[in-house]
Amino acid sequence: MHAAGNADVSECLKVVVGVAGGIAAYKAAHVVRGFKELGHDVRVVPTESALNFVGAATFEALSGNPVSTTVFDAVDEVQHVRVGQEADLVVVVPATADFMARAAHGRADDLLTATLLVATCPVVLAPAMHTEMWNHPATRDNVAILRRHGTIVLDPAHGRLTGKDTGPGRLPEPEQIVSLALAAVENPRHFRRDFEGVRFMITAGGTREAIDPVRFIGNHSSGRQGFALAEMAAQRGAQVTVVAGHTDQLPTPLGANVVKVDSTLEMAKAAHEHSKLADVCIFAAAVADFRPASTAGAKMKKGVADDALSNIQLVENPDILATTVERRKAGEIPATTTMVGFAAETGDETTTPLELAKQKIVRKGCDLLMCNDVSGGQTFGATDNVGWLLSLDGEQWDVPRGSKFSVAGSILDAVSELRQEPQPAE
Ligand code: C5P
Repeated sequence: MHAAGNADVSECLKVVVGVAGGIAAYKAAHVVRGFKELGHDVRVVPTESALNFVGAATFEALSGNPVSTTVFDAVDEVQHVRVGQEADLVVVVPATADFMARAAHGRADDLLTATLLVATCPVVLAPAMHTEMWNHPATRDNVAILRRHGTIVLDPAHGRLTGKDTGPGRLPEPEQIVSLALAAVENPRHFRRDFEGVRFMITAGGTREAIDPVRFIGNHSSGRQGFALAEMAAQRGAQVTVVAGHTDQLPTPLGANVVKVDSTLEMAKAAHEHSKLADVCIFAAAVADFRPASTAGAKMKKGVADDALSNIQLVENPDILATTVERRKAGEIPATTTMVGFAAETGDETTTPLELAKQKIVRKGCDLLMCNDVSGGQTFGATDNVGWLLSLDGEQWDVPRGSKFSVAGSILDAVSELRQEPQPAE
């Protein structure tokens, strides 16, 4: 197994944002902004029909670069090949059914399709269309052709479409498109479709243990790593259920079904139910180890005679990961279900975070453990991560520093390899 080879996206990248003609074209403006705010150089290449939705002036102002649609502009600069050759990343937002049909068949009748034919960098399409168009066999075939050619076609979001209808076909949120497209630059192999039909259950975010109606015991987890795992697994073809505690203001993970929970007991119940149906269980949640023995029905007062607020009795919460591994041992969950845990460690005077993680994987009995050093406030709430992956049979790999999407990709690579290894005879 390996986890090396991820590119650094903190440098200024040359990003081409292609825009096809769909109602969601206005969201391309937010995508351009997102890349610019991260310091990247953006060149917008709309199709002729995209300009019926958003004018060239908007894209020129936001990108700070000229906009052209045809191969007959700036012919002396051989623009129809130069734009694609120089790009570090091409993202098409929205990719309409018509645009994907043209791209799948190698057409080069405007600057955007010509750019796609020339580009050797990662090409990411963010489709948006009505559900009927997305489900049509012609579009399915075109998506399959594009993926076979190495183009990354994101699965669209499920939600409200332009009319009254709801279903798959909605453009992912601009910040999701930016994050996933940059993850494609970090490592395009993280987008291969090796989990087609594989069912994942992922716990994410922090749990909250109510003391009374206004107070709780909680933690700093943002849910970012768990949501990144969910999105990356979904983009690799998996069917993903996320059991989510409290998270920062993150958009719903693209392509995943989310079950919202509050406390550890609620998370344990939901994880219990969904792990029975999963092929892979990943426990990325930051679970409160203890909860108040009882929750007061009314706000507790300070400075009163019994002083219950300064003497909260705690009881231990169930360890969701360890009990799920136990249930696998007991045959309640198939022996083939892969279990992945996390260890956020600070280490102490005598023991390093890695040594603690090595003890933890044996104690918990999961197949893989992602270990982070969280001393000095690292990791929680950050957009990047770094650490080590350990396997129960004693292997260890460095996970290079990268976005939480790139770390998710490395973890999923390890899961994929583990699932391909021959299973021991029962
Ligand atoms: O023991 P510790 O909390 O460090 O273990 C971390 C791992 O165990 C994480 O994968 C976390 O999601 C999981 N865990 C759990 N239930 C708990 C405590 C931790 O599933 N009560």
